[in-house]
Amino acid sequence: MLVRTGGSRREFLRVGASGAVVAALGEAPATAVGAAFRAKNDRPRLALIGAGGQGSGDARSAARFGDFVAVADVDKSHAEKAKDSDRIGKGKAEAYGDYRKVLERNDVDAVIIGTPDHWHTKICIDAMNAGKDVYCEKPLTLTIDEGKKLREAVEKTKKVLQVGTQQRSDHNKVFLLAVALVRSGRIGKIKKVTAAIGGGPVGGPFSKETPPPELNWDMWLGQAPKVDYIANRCHSEFRWWYEYSGGKLTDWGAHHVDVAHWGLGKDQTGPTTIEVERAVLPVAYKDGFATVDDRFNTVNSFVVKATFADGTPIEIRDDTENGVTFQGAGGRIFVTRDRIDLDGGAVAALYKNPLPEPLLRELRHGKPMDDHFENFFACCNDRGKPASDVWSHHRALTTCHLANIAIRLGNRKLTWDPEKEVIVGDDQANGFLSRPQRAGFEIVV
Ligand SMILES: NC(=O)c1ccc[n+]([C@@H]2O[C@H](COP(=O)([O-])OP(=O)(O)OC[C@H]3O[C@@H](n4cnc5c(N)ncnc54)[C@H](O)[C@@H]3O)[C@@H](O)[C@H]2O)c1
Repeated sequence: MLVRTGGSRREFLRVGASGAVVAALGEAPATAVGAAFRAKNDRPRLALIGAGGQGSGDARSAARFGDFVAVADVDKSHAEKAKDSDRIGKGKAEAYGDYRKVLERNDVDAVIIGTPDHWHTKICIDAMNAGKDVYCEKPLTLTIDEGKKLREAVEKTKKVLQVGTQQRSDHNKVFLLAVALVRSGRIGKIKKVTAAIGGGPVGGPFSKETPPPELNWDMWLGQAPKVDYIANRCHSEFRWWYEYSGGKLTDWGAHHVDVAHWGLGKDQTGPTTIEVERAVLPVAYKDGFATVDDRFNTVNSFVVKATFADGTPIEIRDDTENGVTFQGAGGRIFVTRDRIDLDGGAVAALYKNPLPEPLLRELRHGKPMDDHFENFFACCNDRGKPASDVWSHHRALTTCHLANIAIRLGNRKLTWDPEKEVIVGDDQANGFLSRPQRAGFEIVV
């Protein structure tokens, strides 16, 4: 259903239901590949690695297409719960504490990774080297260097790696429609894209404790520095510590900065400058590192401008409605998970001219974009490029990582060379492109 609101001078179109979006996007290509995996005797055997909140949700979605034979989690209670769940292991999957045991199994075709961010790259690479296709949660990496390693691993192993940025295919396809409208020039030359992703919390000081018996804290920490256990460093809250994540800038930047890059057609490149308009860190920083170790340390609020060589900026900010705004010379598009607001040229164009088929084919990679897991399993069958691939995700996350580096170094302006993938003339900032990895947890392609 399309609902027109607003006055005659500036008309907005709110598209809240998938029917209208489907009509605008035309028929999705038919596929036999997704269906093949759904055939009764041809279902892939799956393993879940990281059975927390999102991993368990992912596994329930994936269970429509395959059968879980293994679940691994460094928290025994999480592994056992997923193993016994009616919608995941169905009591038939085996539970493990060490994901490497899962990767040794020849009967596992694909793994779903729902661990915290600091484990994504290593488990992805180990899994692909073990011959598995991978669906890994976003944000795929902790550093820019990890993205380069993952790219190399996908190119070397030829395995499918779908990133869990489901906005590329789910959510009533509103993001696909926004990108198709922008890329087909319906709102003219893009002057600015805003990725509004909300801010991060303040938390702590927290007390150091003995880890619970069911948790292997050393294995949870993995490549990150060995520190005393704090419950708020661990399950779910890890995203507010730079040791394990990039805070809101990567947690939600992985979604909306990704859509901004996609809409601009900048999936294979990056910005050339990063400027911080304002940023508030929750604790004092010295040389890019928090000076205390007992409270959340990722940025609370921010406005960062990442500008491409052609002068187009992506503004990443915390203080406006969550979503992506494309401001063009001839109109404006705002898109968020449940709706797309169009005005000016975009509204008229939606009715008058169908979107160009070649562009839609390119955006869809020749497959339906109804479901991120269906897209993954279709790619496992035809060895195609998934909706959210490593090359585009690495570029979007590079923008997010650079924003964090600039903020951690006192709102320093950075010049980025997207070809060489280095920060120009700044050795200290380049030191943040990778991190030391704890012995035993090194990432090797
Ligand atoms: N796509 C989305 O919209 C979306 C939404 C929420 C979260 N996520 C992502 O999902 C990931 C997990 O987030 P969450 O909120 O579910 O976290 P969580 O803390 O609830 O779950 C993480 C799980 O991984 C386990 N784990 C840690 N290290 C492990 C290892 N080496 N091997 C096996 N298991 C290990 C933990 O014990 C825990 O059970 C994050 O990267 C997050 O960004 C994505």
